[in-house]
Amino acid sequence: MCGIIGYTGPLQARGIVLLGLSQLEYRGYDSAGLALFTEDNKIYLQKKVGQVSELEKNCDKSIKSHCGIGHTRWATHGGVTDANAHPHMVGSVTLLHNGIIENYHTIQKQYGFEGLTTSETDTEVAAQLINYYYQEYQDPYLAIRKSIDIIEGSFAFCIMFNDIPGKIFAVRNVSPMVASATEQGSFIASDVTALIPYTRSYFVVPEYHILTLTDTAIEMEDMKGNRVEPELMEVSWDVEAAQKNGYPHFMLKEIYEQPEVFQKTVLPRLLGGIPDFSAEGIPDSILEECKQIQIVACGTAMYAGMVGRAIIEQKLRIPVTVSVASEFRYDTPLIDEHTLVIVISQSGETIDTLAALRLAKTCGAKVLSIVNVKGSTIARESDYVLYTHAGPEIAVASTKAYMVQLAVLYLITGRMMYVRKKASDEEIREFTSNLLSSTDTIQHMLDTISQKVRTQAEKIAFSTDAFFIGRGLDYAFSLEGALKMKEISYIHAEAYAAGELKHGTIALIEENVPVVALATQDHVFNKTISNIREVKARGAYVILITKEGVSVSDDVCDIHFEVPVKDDCFSVFPCAVVLQMLAYYTAYAKGYDMDKPRNLAKSVTVE
Ligand code: AGP
Repeated sequence: MCGIIGYTGPLQARGIVLLGLSQLEYRGYDSAGLALFTEDNKIYLQKKVGQVSELEKNCDKSIKSHCGIGHTRWATHGGVTDANAHPHMVGSVTLLHNGIIENYHTIQKQYGFEGLTTSETDTEVAAQLINYYYQEYQDPYLAIRKSIDIIEGSFAFCIMFNDIPGKIFAVRNVSPMVASATEQGSFIASDVTALIPYTRSYFVVPEYHILTLTDTAIEMEDMKGNRVEPELMEVSWDVEAAQKNGYPHFMLKEIYEQPEVFQKTVLPRLLGGIPDFSAEGIPDSILEECKQIQIVACGTAMYAGMVGRAIIEQKLRIPVTVSVASEFRYDTPLIDEHTLVIVISQSGETIDTLAALRLAKTCGAKVLSIVNVKGSTIARESDYVLYTHAGPEIAVASTKAYMVQLAVLYLITGRMMYVRKKASDEEIREFTSNLLSSTDTIQHMLDTISQKVRTQAEKIAFSTDAFFIGRGLDYAFSLEGALKMKEISYIHAEAYAAGELKHGTIALIEENVPVVALATQDHVFNKTISNIREVKARGAYVILITKEGVSVSDDVCDIHFEVPVKDDCFSVFPCAVVLQMLAYYTAYAKGYDMDKPRNLAKSVTVE
């Protein structure tokens, strides 16, 4: 939920920290701050409410520094104020943090820190605690070890001690952190996006290991003080992938990247037209023998799971349950060794999803995760991983990641059809051919609908409410359409099973209330049209999406989009493009920042 960057080395630290923060800003952007060791070994600290650009404006440009840390915040404890911005300086300690310290009140009471803080944050209490032990032991490692023995919760700390110039200390638990020692100095950050301009080689910081960054190396030790060598990894994408490349927003760029990343995700996993996961070492047994499937995720990833549930149940006739990870993790789920748990996460760091994964494993279930960020915590803790190849998704509103999560779920469906002999090889080849050709239908939508969608977006932009309705698969992906609209246009959008509206919610339909109606499923098409007539009769402004070539009388809708699919199992892919662009252009019409919508952050690493 926050972005962290640290650097020490021969280069100017201020510029590196500010650039890193701007690249990590999608992780949270309520406020930003930095701390730099100046050339006379003092610590310069600056922090401001607002985006990184605000911090940059307020930074003393005359400061020369070769060691510093920076933070961009998504507020959890304490409001959005300068005082609550990180870093926090207490005595000899300057510290920034990503995560939540659950027992900070207890620590405050136990150590008599109450009334001594200048902020409302849990983070400052961590700085107080480390400073307390540093004053006692005059040893940074002992001070850090003693403190994290006491601290409960999630944390990624970067710490500077004002009498140890040029060095940065770091330690994490749950919250993500990566690091790299290069010829240009040592770097640490919340994710590789901030390291890319300098290096492709990095390592994931193991939990409860203390790092010491110096200008020439990074030392790492476990909690017993034993030296540990890092496991180096290579970044699989380039700087350009994390830039806008001429698009006004990352979100629009990522919408247009969908055909390419869809193909990158699907093609390598087809062998003679049959889905094949042997390259990922995924045994057929987990797909063949499971008696039920439990899908767990959050937000858009969970809505991808809803589509996955519908298609797997339709094709395999086995029970599939989808759970919100934040609910599942505190539940007593009815899963066991006969359950395949599919965890879906773009970032691979969503704390609720990670906790759900850990719970699933204690129940004896095998965990297969669908993750976009390689080497992420969820990927590393899963039994098996199918990576999506979407490249970095910078916009907070997920688009291309959703599309390729769906693609992988369809590949899993196809492989299960094969190993369970639910269809002939020819039928499976037809299924995967339809999947692969969805690349073209996505491209077709991108090439043909943007002006038409934009016109509709401008018509509905200042509505207060909107409804997304459908039946079956259409209902499953209307959920994602509503979320997209909510999170970037701030219109209160709600997805509803079309047949359920008349049981109360239709009372909210009045003149010009926008209703996005999805009617691509043949077997319930007429029923859905009846439901659409019910809302139309009450004045709704209906944006209808159907398969191409379906005849619809003029009085059913105000505008009609057609998606070029024959098999309605595959209408989700082109429909998703319409729904994503409708949300994007609605927010655009309102002048909002589609990449950094209010109150949100890209990766929810706090509960
Ligand atoms: C979707 O647009 C949001 N960014 C959010 O719902 C997101 O999908 C959710 O937080 C899950 O994130 P993850 O896929 O990284 O786990």
